Amino acid sequence: MSKVLVTGGAGFIGSHVVDQLIVEGHEVVVIDNFETGKRNNIKTNVNIFDIDINSKIVKSIFEYFLPEYVIHLAAQTSVSTSIGFPKKDAQTNIIGTLNILELSKEYQVKKIIFTSSAAVYGENSNLPILESYPLSPFSPYGLSKLTGEKYIKLYNKLHKLNYSILRLSNVYGPRQCENGEAGVVTKFINQMIKGITPTIEGDGNQSRDFIFVKDVANALVRAIVPSDPHILNISSGTSISINCLYDFLAKLIEYNKPANFGPSRVGDIYESSLSNENAKRILQWLPAISIEEGLNETVSYFLASQ
Ligand SMILES: NC(=O)c1ccc[n+]([C@@H]2O[C@H](COP(=O)([O-])OP(=O)(O)OC[C@H]3O[C@@H](n4cnc5c(N)ncnc54)[C@H](O)[C@@H]3O)[C@@H](O)[C@H]2O)c1
Repeated sequence: MSKVLVTGGAGFIGSHVVDQLIVEGHEVVVIDNFETGKRNNIKTNVNIFDIDINSKIVKSIFEYFLPEYVIHLAAQTSVSTSIGFPKKDAQTNIIGTLNILELSKEYQVKKIIFTSSAAVYGENSNLPILESYPLSPFSPYGLSKLTGEKYIKLYNKLHKLNYSILRLSNVYGPRQCENGEAGVVTKFINQMIKGITPTIEGDGNQSRDFIFVKDVANALVRAIVPSDPHILNISSGTSISINCLYDFLAKLIEYNKPANFGPSRVGDIYESSLSNENAKRILQWLPAISIEEGLNETVSYFLASQ
């Protein structure tokens, strides 16, 4: 069992990662500034430090805990915030990542596991997208994630710091906020439950590769092994349109009204589907939960939290 430091561990994906780490018997410490994370997302008794990843105190946490693995999820995750406030996005996603990298180097971490995003690819009509495809982000968020990846690769060259970079598609599930990546599932569910008609941005034919959060957490935990450095897509490998998602949720929640339609969002990708063949082979991992099962569990969670 390993000592694992999880940044952003009180967030949506991070808290599911913490759950799985604890079940597997790892020793876990969490750093989170609760910008979007919540204390009650953490269901187990782990040490949580309420600090910013840019803070000088992070060094003393490395010094006392001496993590073997760092799973770095803390980030500014909203595409629209990154467009409105690109310096805020860069401060967390680039400068904050550099702070974690410097300390990982100094305290000889065995591997950094980094959550990157499909946003690094930008638009690509040749689907599903392979890891080798051109990288051309068109939001500051996509660019800051790509810059994080490049620093990580450079630290590997310069300092032999090992890494797993996992490029996540659109993650959904219990505990998700509405404003981050793929927040559309949470938003539609909460609105339908309250009797508010959701607005689809654009024509609704835009597609997304939705993956259930527990499958993503499982992939991140599987990266906690010695391996060659790698960059892997973590996705379902299929995609559904936003119109289809709307109909599916409406059926589950028994919401009978048709969607409203509004203008499409700046910086949004139209079609997205990532190939997960390399992740399946290298991590010995499979997305185990179908979209039907995942949406069912997510709807039940939000109904129970009302
Ligand atoms: N949700 C998705 O669909 C998706 C897709 C691709 C990649 N990702 C990546 O996965 C990671 C987790 O995303 P999420 O969806 O769980 O979002 P989230 O907002 O729920 O989690 C981010 C966590 O980081 C914390 N945080 C933010 N800034 C911080 C800072 N400066 N210092 C310390 N903590 C800070 C937040 O409080 C939160 O708990 C992010 O790196 C995100 O870019 C998410």
